[in-house]
Amino acid sequence: MSIQRTLSIIKPDATTRNLTGSINARFEQAGLKIVAQKRLQLAKAQAEKFYEVHKDKAFYNSLCEYMSSAPVVVQVLSGEDAIAKNRQIMGATNPANAEIGTIRRDFAQDIERNSVHGSDSEENAALEIAFFFSQLEIVE
Ligand code: CDP
Ligand code: MG
Repeated sequence: MSIQRTLSIIKPDATTRNLTGSINARFEQAGLKIVAQKRLQLAKAQAEKFYEVHKDKAFYNSLCEYMSSAPVVVQVLSGEDAIAKNRQIMGATNPANAEIGTIRRDFAQDIERNSVHGSDSEENAALEIAFFFSQLEIVE
C-alpha cells in the first residue's frame, strides 16, 4: 500500500444526468482526494487515442462515439492505494455484475454507459493522467 494517483473520468451518461457531485461524494467519502479536475468534451479522435488499447474490440467505435457525445469530467484522485480503491468504488464494468453500493451498480445505464472510468494499473494511471493534465495542474 502506498499513496497513488489515478485518472478518473465521469462519463457522458453521468454528466448529462447531473450526477457529477453525487459520484464525487463517493470518492471523497472513501478518502480519495480530487487533486485535479476539468470538464471538457472530447473530439472523437481524442477518445480513439485515449481508448487505443481497445481498438480491436467490437465495442471500440461505439465507445468512442459515446465518449465524445457530451461533456466528461476528467480528474485525478489521490490517496492510499488509490488505483484499486477507485476501481472498487466504481464496481464491475457491467453494472449487472457490480456490487451493491458501487457507483456503477447505483448509476450506470448499461455496460457502455457505465458512468465512470478508472485507471487499471500504475503504468496506465501515469499515462492517462499525462493525457489530460500537466504537472502544474495537479495540486495535492
Ligand atoms: O472501464 P473498465 O476498465 O471497467 O472496462 P474496459 O474493459 O477497460 O472497457 C472500457 C470501457 O468500454 C467500459 O468502461 C465500457 O464503457 C466499454 N465497454 C463496452 O461498451 N462493452 C464491453 N463489452 C466492454 C466495455
Ligand atoms: Mg479499463
